[in-house]
Amino acid sequence: MNTDPTLSRAPLSGASYFAVEYEPETGEVVMLDQRRLPAEVVYYRFSRPDEVADGIRDMVVRGAPAIGVTAAYALVQVARAESGDARSFLLAHGAASRVLDATRPTAVNLAWAIARMSRRAAEVAALAPAERYEAMRAEAETIHREDVAACREMGRLGALDVPDEATILTHCNAGALATGGYGSALGVIRAAVEAGKRVKVLADETRPYLQGARLTSWELFQDGIDVEVITDNMAAHFFQTGEINFVIVGSDRIARNGDVANKIGTYGVAVLARAHGVPFGVAAPFSTVDMATVTGAGIPIEQRSRDEVARIGASMLVADGIPCRHPAFDVTPARLVDALYTERGVVRPAKGETLDLLVGHAPGPQDR
Ligand code: MRU
Repeated sequence: MNTDPTLSRAPLSGASYFAVEYEPETGEVVMLDQRRLPAEVVYYRFSRPDEVADGIRDMVVRGAPAIGVTAAYALVQVARAESGDARSFLLAHGAASRVLDATRPTAVNLAWAIARMSRRAAEVAALAPAERYEAMRAEAETIHREDVAACREMGRLGALDVPDEATILTHCNAGALATGGYGSALGVIRAAVEAGKRVKVLADETRPYLQGARLTSWELFQDGIDVEVITDNMAAHFFQTGEINFVIVGSDRIARNGDVANKIGTYGVAVLARAHGVPFGVAAPFSTVDMATVTGAGIPIEQRSRDEVARIGASMLVADGIPCRHPAFDVTPARLVDALYTERGVVRPAKGETLDLLVGHAPGPQDR
């Protein structure tokens, strides 16, 4: 496995590290192995779409927008490899799309990116293979660039609500590692810092996968942002002592009514925030909004393996043979969501506002 992170061009993510990039010279999808962070910074180079799909399923890359960008690049690899006519190109594209789509069911950005790439594939199928490939590559890179721009805009909007000298609680990792770059929830925190606000972050460790302990603290520490890691069961205590003034998280899918699916444990944080009168905000690109799903009850919840709960690394926490439950996401009802920050604007579901307010605001393929 080639682990060289050097690209033949500047990364589109805009950070000194990146979750995923496309290497045009070789057609490889280059991914930082997030399972090995923070102990090791190791990049893998995948040359086939089925390997990329395995990388998504096994969480080499994770975070809803980053998964979408990754799937788009896998479909560029299909276009690069396929030298046949329009029909054989579309067959290969469809087969790879189905494999990619099945990797992670809750993160709607995955299906959204595949659908957008499929529309482009249909438009360019009849072109010569080299032109077809360039068109598919341009589309995937546009998806990537737009995601970074969306993070910056939602960050700017969210930062307006962050009080100066706030202690901000976040759950899971919705940072540069989980997006095209910059981050959604961590984008709000970064933008608040860039606007001159003095903030401190409490990062929930986020059992069982420890995205908060391993990834969020790693990202913020590198930016020089004041961060402390707490175990998930400490959050209630810090709400009670009045230390937490603002909560910001990301999302994997937002239903039309404003119900928010995010990393397991988010719902509990939202209940605590409401009980203590602390604003609970969600930052996500509009590609995370699923207008076809009316309420959170319709959001599929990914069930992951027992071992991710029963073990930490090589250490066994639960004796062999004892079952564990592992829903990877939960749904926070819209009434607990004080603000949804998107690149199209802000919606306040707890005040009865719905996402219909933003549909048509900037017409795009995500309107459905
Ligand atoms: O299982 P993961 O690590 O992919 O879950 C990620 C999250 O829950 C994030 O909060 C969400 O994808 C938003 S990322 C900008």
